[in-house]
Amino acid sequence: MSVLSKRLSSRIVDEDVSFRTRMLEIAAGLDDVIAMGRGDPDFHTPPHIVAAAKRAIDRNEHHYTHPAGLPALREAIADTLARENGLTYTPDEVIVTAGVQESIMLTMLGLVDPGDEVLITSPRFTTYDTAVGLCGGVPVPVPTFERDDFALLPAEIEARLTPRSKALVLVSPNNPTGAVTPPAVIQEIAALAQQRDLIVVSDEIYAKLIYEGAEHLSVGSLPGMKARTVTLGGFSKAYAMTGWRVGYLAAPEDFVRLLTEPRHTLSINTSTPSQFAALAALTGPQDAVSEMLAEYAERRGYLMRVLKEMGLSYGFPGGAFYIYTNISSTGLRAPAFCETLLRDGRVLLFPGSMFGDEDDVYVRISYLQPLARIEEAVERMAQVIAVRA
Ligand SMILES: Cc1ncc(COP(=O)(O)O)c(C=O)c1O
Repeated sequence: MSVLSKRLSSRIVDEDVSFRTRMLEIAAGLDDVIAMGRGDPDFHTPPHIVAAAKRAIDRNEHHYTHPAGLPALREAIADTLARENGLTYTPDEVIVTAGVQESIMLTMLGLVDPGDEVLITSPRFTTYDTAVGLCGGVPVPVPTFERDDFALLPAEIEARLTPRSKALVLVSPNNPTGAVTPPAVIQEIAALAQQRDLIVVSDEIYAKLIYEGAEHLSVGSLPGMKARTVTLGGFSKAYAMTGWRVGYLAAPEDFVRLLTEPRHTLSINTSTPSQFAALAALTGPQDAVSEMLAEYAERRGYLMRVLKEMGLSYGFPGGAFYIYTNISSTGLRAPAFCETLLRDGRVLLFPGSMFGDEDDVYVRISYLQPLARIEEAVERMAQVIAVRA
């Protein structure tokens, strides 16, 4: 063991990522794998967004910006949040970050003291566990269940509150379940947060990806909630901009001002050409977003129908681009199912255990392949299941 590893800080934990690594290694050794694991859109970034970044580079816009981001971008974010979500942030209440990922870390740095408990909708995007843990806090999963379409229930939150509870992470639409917390439940959660003095971290990265039968409500727009909410949003998903690394957090000005220095320490500012791309995304035509959404809706409809025909159940996927599918009828646990499907069917899916799900009979299907490839993946999946039956 190196001197460095012996001197490792107590913040760093040796997380077991062996399953993910093994899956990716198996996939690398196979031909024609249909990858429906990662949450990375198969579409390319719309051309007018790419062109805006190119123009910025040609204008020599490749210097540092204000740590909180380009003023025009912060203004566009504040305008968009007001228009689309009824949120009343000023540009000074917005910090542009390197993806929502950096917003998550920055928010936890700003909120979590050692021993503080942070409740997290679960199954979950486990970056939250890591970020809370790095700050010395304790992640507290709040389970959601297929029987409730994976909706977050206030009673489940309440049952886990202690004097150390500091914040609740609400991710709606959710990754990995696609669940959209209904507006009436968001109202109840807001009331609970006010009664029990909880901060709400509302991750709305999938807010533009909402399908028929679901409705998105931003918790920070409810009376009294702005003061205790950090709203996180981004570009990766709706604008197919994963590699550009742009996201943001919005919160009351005094809190945002205090976060500007740690934000400067992390990376000074988000890549300047990427910020110009994000500005074009918000201020330019939105047709590409609706076209991608229509395509996702078609793929989602197909999968919902065909999974049901195959006898596989799931919670209603109201948003995002995931279907969290119950594979218990195959008799396999999810990791074994995913490994068999990959080796024998050359389809890559991720098991619930990668999202902190202890009840590991679910797989997350990302419908981020053209419909014809998804049809092919379903055929391969049906064959693998038939061989086992
Ligand atoms: C719920 C959620 N939050 C945040 C992120 C991070 O997104 P990015 O850093 O690309 O903006 C993801 C990515 O999958 C996510 O699913």
